[in-house]
Amino acid sequence: MSESSEQNQSNESREERRFEPPDDLAADANVTAEAYDRAAGDRLGFWAEQAERLSWGKRWDTVLDWDDAPFAKWFVGGTLNAAYNCLDRHVEEGRGDRVALHWVGEPADDRRTLTYAELTDEVCKAANALTALGVEAGDPVAIYLPMVPEAVISMLACARIGAVHTVVFGGFSADAIVTRVTELDARVVITADGQYRRGDPSGLKPAVDKAMESCPNVRTVLVVKRTGQDVEWDDDRDQWWHDAVDGQSTEHEPQQFDSEHPLYVMYTSGSTGKPKGILHTTGGYLTQVAWTHWAVFDLKPETDVFWCTADIGWVTGHSYIVYGPLANGATQVMYEGTPDTPDKDRWWRIVEEFGVTLFYTAPTAIRACMKWGDSIPQRCDLSSLRILGSVGEPINPEAYIWYREHIGGNKAPIVDTWWQTETGAMMISPLPGVTAGKPGSAMNPLPGISGQVLDDEGKEVPDGSSGLLVLTEPWPAMLRGLWGDEERFRETYWSRFEGKYFAGDGAKKDDDGDWWLLGRVDDVMNVSGHRMSTTEIESALVSNAKVAEAAVVGASDEATGQAIVAFVILREEAGDGGEEIVQELRDHVANQIGKIARPRQIMVVPELPKTRSGKIMRRLLRDVAENREMGDATTLTDSSVMDQIKGGMSDGRSDDD
Ligand code: WTA
Repeated sequence: MSESSEQNQSNESREERRFEPPDDLAADANVTAEAYDRAAGDRLGFWAEQAERLSWGKRWDTVLDWDDAPFAKWFVGGTLNAAYNCLDRHVEEGRGDRVALHWVGEPADDRRTLTYAELTDEVCKAANALTALGVEAGDPVAIYLPMVPEAVISMLACARIGAVHTVVFGGFSADAIVTRVTELDARVVITADGQYRRGDPSGLKPAVDKAMESCPNVRTVLVVKRTGQDVEWDDDRDQWWHDAVDGQSTEHEPQQFDSEHPLYVMYTSGSTGKPKGILHTTGGYLTQVAWTHWAVFDLKPETDVFWCTADIGWVTGHSYIVYGPLANGATQVMYEGTPDTPDKDRWWRIVEEFGVTLFYTAPTAIRACMKWGDSIPQRCDLSSLRILGSVGEPINPEAYIWYREHIGGNKAPIVDTWWQTETGAMMISPLPGVTAGKPGSAMNPLPGISGQVLDDEGKEVPDGSSGLLVLTEPWPAMLRGLWGDEERFRETYWSRFEGKYFAGDGAKKDDDGDWWLLGRVDDVMNVSGHRMSTTEIESALVSNAKVAEAAVVGASDEATGQAIVAFVILREEAGDGGEEIVQELRDHVANQIGKIARPRQIMVVPELPKTRSGKIMRRLLRDVAENREMGDATTLTDSSVMDQIKGGMSDGRSDDD
């Protein structure tokens, strides 16, 4: 069990508060308690009802085909167009003038508003441009963009023509672009010259240029002009977005695609060094993201203003900036920059300016705001907020209470939503008009979702105990596989417990039967709500010629949930490790993977503790990293190793990120 779990458990006993749904919200909620019974009685019927909320070219014949488990097919025989569902249908039904996006750039007065009619036109033009560039249905397109409207436009333009997008988070380095472009064999990449971060323009295209040296198959790089900074240019390959898109027609007939047509591939860290390409398809995914967004945020599209602070490069941005909210015709805020530029009240100024009613962020951000102090949000009128969401990692009760009190004015309920890149959409969460909230608990699986908490033998644990989280029935937005790796898909998710999806998370059911997520039980770390694999970082470290061996652990960290701590054995010729080499290695990891992977701390050690079978004992390393009493070390080949480690380490700690 991870350290965040321990933190959670001890907090739990300190904190036994419970918040009932506010009366006004309960009286007018989109979803009532009946939904749980309805779904329990007829799960497939329940999801079919939710699919009816979309517009289908041809209705499906069969709700679920699970014959080829674990490969699911949802709404078999149905056809639809995801972009049409997110755009045209709202315009056709008279909602074209509704604001789809209130975009806010980081520089002070940078604003752009797009109504549903305008966004539809932009997407049609981009779809025509992609077609003119030779992109066809089924073709992969890589997107490496900042938080600008063109990110949404590109994704929907791909969806509209049936191209499969893969969005690479703008914080990742060139290598991440290379692996994704190569694995999918993408021929077109969409990027920008740069983006505004912390008050300054920073480059994005240089990473693409570097990546392209290793991607000979890419024929076109489409470049959005965001900052106007100088960029290198390859006339044969590079095209400005405005040249390719602006002159295109706003007419574009959306084709209907099979319900199981691939929509996107999102890469995420697993417990091995190689990121996994999670495949999502169209009908089931759109059904569940739209329904969960509508139900869990109790969305009233005519009056609500929704803001999800996630980056579009993560699954949360896909499901709850692009597909869910737009399928529901919601009005949203989208913000380019950091929460503390120019000042630490930036987010709350935006909430006030647009009257944001529904707000969705990650616990790590809430903890940062807590640290900045109560007086910062007090500068702004936050009374418009009526529901607050949390996602990405367990929310500790202190952060929950602070969020409720200082952002939600002690009235807005908090929905703590558990889900994963793999699940595509929210799976465990309160329903704000129905379910009570407990600080630190995600409460219960949503209607239509079947989960269990199992012990090691696969038996359900009784209330009051913890175990491993599994999902026992297929759900519409579930991943359809890992790109090009059927075996890894079966092995990773379906082999631990026969016929059940193993999420990789620990969970506990309290005495009331409510669920508490306890963090990862595998080698995946959760740093500021971002998934990082220990082995991926170890591989990056040993790719440096000075490193002989490396072991990485996630140590608990007050601000980021977990932090990356690395133990390295240097090669003889590298000397015995001083501050310089530690800095070099931290930068090396940042260059290889991205800044978010830069270890908080690197310890140069003479040996690593291993079991007799040669496995590194990360538990012990974690104890060292967290300065805890060491646990049982009797399976160590040489138990003096730990003394050596503790005695001989050169501690390269840094707080500069
Ligand atoms: C963790 C993000 C506790 C969990 C949507 C999961 C959470 C991983 C919560 C998925 C939550 C996400 N409470 N833990 N509300 N939400 N997690 O794929 O460990 O980036 O397995 O998807 O984040 O991260 P991913």
